[in-house]
Amino acid sequence: QRGGCVKATATAHANIALIKYWGKANEDLIIPITSSLSLTLDDLFTTTTVDFSSLEPTAADQATLDGATVSGRPLERICGLLDLVRERAGIDQPAKVTSENMVPTAAGLASSASGFAALTGAAAVAAGLELSDRELSRLARRGSGSASRSIFGGLAIWHAGDSDETSFADPVVDHGFAQEISLVVLVLNSGPKAVSSRDGMRRTVDTSPLYESWVAEHAGHLREALAAVADRDLPRLGEAAEANALGMHAAMRAANPPINYMNDASCAALQAVKDARAAGFPAWATMDAGPNVKVLTSTKRAAELEAWLQSRLKDSVPGMDTVVAHAGPGLTVTR
Ligand code: PMV
Repeated sequence: QRGGCVKATATAHANIALIKYWGKANEDLIIPITSSLSLTLDDLFTTTTVDFSSLEPTAADQATLDGATVSGRPLERICGLLDLVRERAGIDQPAKVTSENMVPTAAGLASSASGFAALTGAAAVAAGLELSDRELSRLARRGSGSASRSIFGGLAIWHAGDSDETSFADPVVDHGFAQEISLVVLVLNSGPKAVSSRDGMRRTVDTSPLYESWVAEHAGHLREALAAVADRDLPRLGEAAEANALGMHAAMRAANPPINYMNDASCAALQAVKDARAAGFPAWATMDAGPNVKVLTSTKRAAELEAWLQSRLKDSVPGMDTVVAHAGPGLTVTR
C-alpha cells in the first residue's frame, strides 16, 4: 500500500458530439461501435475534488453533487471509476468526492462527460498516479464514454478502437478552427431524461432496423467532418453533423419500443434552424439523448443567430433558455 494519498481538484468541460457515439461493441469496457468527433465547450463544466485522506479506512466512498448526497446507481458508477483508479495505484482508501456542476444535469447537455472527466483527473492525481492524457482518456471512458473526449479542449476525436488500449480520444489538429465555431444551445427542457443513454443505446443496437444503416453512413459523416475541419469549411461540417444526428434519432425512433427524445419544442426548434439557414445564417442542428437542440454556427454570427432564434421561437416555445457555447479547454487538475 502506497502512502501519501492526498486530495486533488479537477475541472473538465462538457463536450457536444458533432459526429455521434451511440452504441457499444463492449458494454463492460465501453468500447463504442463508432468513432466520434466533438467540441469541448467553455461555459459548461464540472469541478470535482477527490479526497482519499478524510474518511476512516473501513468507510464506504461518499459523494455529493452540488451539495446533495449522491446514492444508488450514480454513486455505484462513481465507485466503479474510483475502484479502477485504486486498483491501478495499489491503494484501498475510500474517497470523499465533492462535485459542482455548471451544466444542467442529465438533460442531454453532457454532464456525464464533464463529470467523469473531472472525477478521473482528480482521482488519478489524488491517488498519486501520473497518467498521460491518453491514459486519462481511456480511464474516463470507463465512467462514461463521452467523458473520454472531455480530457481535451477544442475538437476531439474518440477512436472507437477494439480494446481498452485502443479506444481513446485525441485532440484534432485544427489550426484554430475550433475558435471559429460555436454552438447556440436551445434549452427546451432541463429535467432528467426519460431513457438513459445506456439503455437507449442497447435498445437501439438490439432492435432498431435502422441502426446498421446509420453505422454504415457514419464512416462517411466522420470523413466529411474531418475533411471539413482541415479545410475550415463550416457548411460542410454542419451538413455532416446534422445528417449524423438526425440519422441517429431516426434509428432511435425505429427501436422497439421506440425511443423518442424529441418533444414538440424540439421539432419547432429544428424547423427554426432550417428557417435560419434559409434566411442566410450558418446554422445546423444537432441533438443528443434529450430534447434540447444545439445549433452549430460561426462564432462571428452566434449572438445574432441566438437573438434570431429567440424571437422566432418566442410564441411556440415560451420560456426557452439559450446559451452560446464556444470552444473550451481540456482537463485541468490542481493538488
Ligand atoms: O457517454 P454517454 O453515455 O453520456 O453517451 C453520450 C451519447 C450522446 O451524447 C448521445 C452522443 C455523444 O457522442 O456524446
